[in-house]
Amino acid sequence: MDRPAVRAALAALEAHRATISKTRTIDLFAADPRRFERFSVQLDDLLFDYSKHKANDETIALLVTLARAAKLEERRAALFGGAEVNSTEHRPALHMALRNLTDKPFLAEGKDVMPEVRDVRAKVAAFADAVRSGAIRGARGDKITDVVNIGIGGSDLGPAMAARALSPYASPHLRAHFVSNVDGADLGDTLKTLDPAKTLFIVSSKTFTTQETMANAASARKFVADALGEAAVADHFAAVSTKLDKVAEFGIRPDRVFGFWDWVGGRYSMWSAIGLSLVIAIGPERFEEFLRGGQDVDEHFVSAPLDRNIPVLMGLLGVWRRNLWGDDVHLVIPYDQRLGRFPAYLQQLDMESNGKHVCRDGSPADMRTGPFVFGEPGTNGQHAFFQLLHQGTDVAPIDFLVAAEPNDADAGHHALLVANCLAQSEAMMRGRSTAEAAEALRKQGASEAEIAALAPHKTFVGDRPTSTFMYRKLDPRALGRLVALYEHKIFVQSVIWDINPFDQWGVELGKELCNRLVPIVQKAGQSLAALDGSTAGLVEWRRRYVGR
Ligand code: F6P
Repeated sequence: MDRPAVRAALAALEAHRATISKTRTIDLFAADPRRFERFSVQLDDLLFDYSKHKANDETIALLVTLARAAKLEERRAALFGGAEVNSTEHRPALHMALRNLTDKPFLAEGKDVMPEVRDVRAKVAAFADAVRSGAIRGARGDKITDVVNIGIGGSDLGPAMAARALSPYASPHLRAHFVSNVDGADLGDTLKTLDPAKTLFIVSSKTFTTQETMANAASARKFVADALGEAAVADHFAAVSTKLDKVAEFGIRPDRVFGFWDWVGGRYSMWSAIGLSLVIAIGPERFEEFLRGGQDVDEHFVSAPLDRNIPVLMGLLGVWRRNLWGDDVHLVIPYDQRLGRFPAYLQQLDMESNGKHVCRDGSPADMRTGPFVFGEPGTNGQHAFFQLLHQGTDVAPIDFLVAAEPNDADAGHHALLVANCLAQSEAMMRGRSTAEAAEALRKQGASEAEIAALAPHKTFVGDRPTSTFMYRKLDPRALGRLVALYEHKIFVQSVIWDINPFDQWGVELGKELCNRLVPIVQKAGQSLAALDGSTAGLVEWRRRYVGR
């Protein structure tokens, strides 16, 4: 689709980039003593600092002009108003309804979804409380000690990430496990640690057809039936899905089935009954705090001015880097070990949403769309891939995430952690010139020949952009805020790029080809004629070993 206003806004940004590229970011601080206050936004006890980006007032104004040219405000209203924003699947995307704790309605096709949302929320809470208290027990009367969520993608990553992040808030009497991979090692290694009589399996799948989840669920069912008898299956399984007929076929008791709706995208579903394993782990009250964190961000996203709006700024700074500076990768580095799965969670959220090559109307994308997203907790990343971030030939913007205070770690450790986080963002921006490197070597007593040889290797170009999120403590509400901020950031970028962030057709081809390959891989005599040379060769090579 031709978007002249967007083209004009991008041209203005390109001209501005040519000017601001001559200024070093660190010098922007010298020119403006209030830069930190002016280039950071606070949402209650969460701070978003973007002052270490190469951006000034004009940059932000031009980015906001771009957002308006792309009709961000209108598209945001359509999202919250329940319009069919997922046009290829003819659905709204109303995950915000799931965390709405007010009496405000949310409309899908003119109908308020909130009564149903509240019903399922109450059912989930009652079930979770009963498992936690021991009112719900296994077939032999044992208390449940282990809960295994079987799901993949959006039916796994959210609750798995959050269960680890919020482990200090979890019941000490219940262990949460997450099995996703069709690799039998995933389920097998988990089952080895479990007593079937004390285990509850939750089969989580929006479609209830996903190969990996169905295979793992069938094996888990056999594990229970073999140990406790077929009749025990009913007491050891629950399910979360939009496809209630398929759940019934699997044989899960109707009172243990928790529904959600087509208007909840898989990767946006952790706020729904898909969070059941998390609700059991941390309890319904704390889960409600998590929802409240999401709701805080929704309110902020719809009401804050665009240039003081955290997800809008996150999205626009991402566009600034991706489209004006050409960065291919976006890094997320939590200085918070319990956020170890947060980058993996964001990979699905961001890359499955914005990894698109056509605009909403099917025409080719006229801008580069979503970047690759990756990350690992700091400080570990520092001792692995940070070398490239500091001195490689490519630049990747980084989001640093860190708590002001720990949940339960010793204060001395936490001070070290925070100092590391701040040192990295400072080093990324400040860099070290060759003259500074030479001076440091001279002070260490190096000869002029050694200085000439070594100084280039010790030079850091610097000027590498970073944002820092600092929150008081990693509690349920803070986590809810972080997740919702990224959700809306992704939406903002999809508007600039004019793509649909709520479908995922790119996962289909591999699934289809896999279905065709399963019998060929399973049975020795199957013809390889339809396969390309490499695939046929690999199947054949494997056949030499299998069954020997
Ligand atoms: O293959 C991708 C995907 O469809 C994701 O979008 C989704 O989160 C995941 O698979 C799991 O799907 P389901 O919840 O239907 O099992």
